[in-house]
Amino acid sequence: FQQATALTHIAADRLIDVERGEVIDSPVVAIDGNRIVSVQAGGEVPDDAIRLTGSTLIPGLMDMHVHLTGDAHTHGYRRLAISNVRSALTGARNARISLESGFTTMRNLGAAGYADIALRDAINAGDIPGPRIFVSGPAIGITGGHCDNNLLPAEYAAVGGGVADGPWAVRAKVRENLKYGADLIKLCATGGVMSKGTEPGAQQLALEEMQAAVTEAHNRGVIVAAHAHGTEGIKAAILAGVDSVEHASFLDREAIRLAKKHGTVLSMDVYVTEYILSEGEKAGILPESLEKERRVGGRQRESFSEAVEAGVKMVFGSDAAVYPHGQNARQFSRMVQFGMTPLQALQASTINAAKLLGKERDLGSIDVGKLADIVAVPGNPLEDISVLEKVQFVMKDGEVFKNNTGVY
Ligand code: ARG
Repeated sequence: FQQATALTHIAADRLIDVERGEVIDSPVVAIDGNRIVSVQAGGEVPDDAIRLTGSTLIPGLMDMHVHLTGDAHTHGYRRLAISNVRSALTGARNARISLESGFTTMRNLGAAGYADIALRDAINAGDIPGPRIFVSGPAIGITGGHCDNNLLPAEYAAVGGGVADGPWAVRAKVRENLKYGADLIKLCATGGVMSKGTEPGAQQLALEEMQAAVTEAHNRGVIVAAHAHGTEGIKAAILAGVDSVEHASFLDREAIRLAKKHGTVLSMDVYVTEYILSEGEKAGILPESLEKERRVGGRQRESFSEAVEAGVKMVFGSDAAVYPHGQNARQFSRMVQFGMTPLQALQASTINAAKLLGKERDLGSIDVGKLADIVAVPGNPLEDISVLEKVQFVMKDGEVFKNNTGVY
């Protein structure tokens, strides 16, 4: 004898089936608790359904590269005035903003003092609203590298929490991050734009160090993301077996070939350059970083177009925190401008991201059996991708966090 449960129904004008690349007209989605139990086209709409007239239903959006505990106005030396505890509270606000803008799942790739783990646990406990977040703890990299803190002279002894030199030290850092609750590992394979005294084109972690990290992480069942702008660092990260390369700015044919051969996913933040170059100075970004961005941004867009053309696996990764949280979706129109179809851009931020996380049974599409992470946008994103910047309705795990449609 089965107990009757009250289902929640959502009706809308259309639904994007991201796996099959199809549009379903007049869908009715039934949700039991936090799971989707049916998706019907043109069916009867129950009286108590949430009617999102004029809207398109899409799976909850997934951003595979953010830093919720950081803000777009505290760059450079301003960062030094912010404690790790304070940054966790910053994260609470940014988690809510991100969820309300339609992102129901995120990867947080690098946070000081395990503030990201506190944030994830607070969201999961229901203390604060936020996306499902998968977090790395401190990013692992070399002394003086992109993931170290290079802002102060030696007498202050400032060292980034993930600094490690040598394969065994890197393995120890992986173990330490997992001990304190990391879901995945972030490595810094090259220099970067925002860090002081590093060169984006130059490799940092050695091949042997990245191999050690990947072996240790994969043995423990967790994935590895590698920050890499420069060509040699990208190739070394791929050969070491990382699951995703972040930024991937200076791709060449060989790097693209290797990514395809190894099934490596690219997460390319092709919007952020616009913010850095227009607002960066006011936001405290170091002059040297502005100079580096002028060398990186344009090349990254070309690399993006080449990678899309070659059919490399891609996910949506914005690097929000460098630019304001809540504006993540601005990247969609750039992804289309630089070569993706709207459907590909939507797949990058849903089903492809779910696969990268190994969570495609639960996340990434509106399908029977999956968790009820459902977003509604005005109009059809396959015709106008920019509607993703105007999310009206957000359900995460069966719970409604936003409904601006005016219809209930
Ligand atoms: N966190 C990255 C770095 O500092 C940001 C790069 C932003 N620029 C870009 N064109 N994607 O290297």
